[in-house]
Amino acid sequence: MSPTRPVVLDTVAAVRETLDAERAEGRTVALTPTLGALHDGHLEHVRRAAELADIRVVSIFVNPLQFGPSEDLDRYPRTLEADLDALAAEGVPYVFAPAVEEMYPAGPAQTHVVAGRVGSMFEGRSRPGHFDGVLTVVAKLLNIVQPDVATFGQKDAQQLFLVQRMVRDLDLRTRIEVVPTVREDDGLALSSRNRYLDADQRRAARALPRALEAAASAADLGVDAVVAAAQSVLMGEKLVEVDYFKVVDPATFEPVPDDFRGTARALLAARVGTTRLIDNDELHLG
Ligand code: PAF
Repeated sequence: MSPTRPVVLDTVAAVRETLDAERAEGRTVALTPTLGALHDGHLEHVRRAAELADIRVVSIFVNPLQFGPSEDLDRYPRTLEADLDALAAEGVPYVFAPAVEEMYPAGPAQTHVVAGRVGSMFEGRSRPGHFDGVLTVVAKLLNIVQPDVATFGQKDAQQLFLVQRMVRDLDLRTRIEVVPTVREDDGLALSSRNRYLDADQRRAARALPRALEAAASAADLGVDAVVAAAQSVLMGEKLVEVDYFKVVDPATFEPVPDDFRGTARALLAARVGTTRLIDNDELHLG
């Protein structure tokens, strides 16, 4: 017998009514927000969520606000049936899958969360307005679902930093649980975008985790050595076009000075063919 599929809630009112009833029975709620096209990385979130709360909700919403005019909103994979099967196998009881009109009934939201300075750096520089769109929809999802805990992936390090910051700045009640990056056997971080890579590009994409490994191995020697080690791996791969490689202070997400010592995070974004991939790793700078 196939496992029971999650109940799909597609209105804000239905989510509130359903979860209020669960809470009235004393149950706690965990939210995993997604754009859908679920892969094993997302399933790791729902597995972790099962350890953190009684009831799990996965939101599946391709949020137009976080896509720029030249980005892949229409091309973004929409695989609701397969997503529901995958979540059924994990025993997830509820999916919130609203239409765009349900989330933005009066057209694009006039009231936005603004991601601030960090929101315009790195990913935000390549994708202007992206993080305002992410934070606005995350704030809405947290208000709609009112979860005790919500899972966010370490893979999207800048998004994670900004969501944690928003929760603090706006005194939101939800606790943010960080889920470590899930990787293929060769180290490539799982991403919905990996499906766009052809065989040669897929092979070339291994340069991203290899560059981060090289960076971590050079960390004892300082920031310049880290950058040089990563660059030497990335420059050896013709199909990889680097957008940025930066070392940031995890407390501020600002680039570290050359003489920085302690725990930092290396951020990497690159195009492989037409597909933009990001990855990151912790560094212990000596
Ligand atoms: O990381 C994502 O999948 C999205 O940015 C999120 C958090 C679901 C907001 O749309």
